[in-house]
Amino acid sequence: MNLMPANYQTLADELTNLANSADNAEHLMTMIVERLQELVLHYNWVGFYMLDEAGNGAEPMLALGPYVGADTPHKRIPLQQGICGAAVSSAQTVVVDDVNSDPRYLACSLETKSEIVAPVFVKGKVIGELDIDSHQLAAFTADDRQLVEHCASLVGRYLETAA
Ligand code: SME
Repeated sequence: MNLMPANYQTLADELTNLANSADNAEHLMTMIVERLQELVLHYNWVGFYMLDEAGNGAEPMLALGPYVGADTPHKRIPLQQGICGAAVSSAQTVVVDDVNSDPRYLACSLETKSEIVAPVFVKGKVIGELDIDSHQLAAFTADDRQLVEHCASLVGRYLETAA
């Protein structure tokens, strides 16, 4: 059973308060993934990927950050690969209702059916993303998108003010 939108608002407010008291960005991201995965039953895998620009001619990659859920083989993802790469490259939230019919999809768990990825922006630039997988088909509604983008923006704002 999904949480109702009123509960999404309560959760969004709780996470906003956490952002105001977090010790550092890693701590904030850890709390966000834990609370989302614990409270929203159709969020089965919840994690952040952060942009590693590498430098010295090395290819920029997404590096797995705090996450809750099954171990994933995709700990570093090139920007032109996966739903994760698509969200960062386009600087837009990507929602995939049926991952098995999307050729971009990189599988983590065979149980995953749908996915949402929201970029994290710092001063208008994408520096990472929040990725959520669900075992349900088409699990992510407009309310989910709002909640996930809110959580991504909490991390972006935290890093902006910490910088
Ligand atoms: N499914 C993602 C890869 C990350 S794992 O699901 C945790 C993608 O297609 O980019």
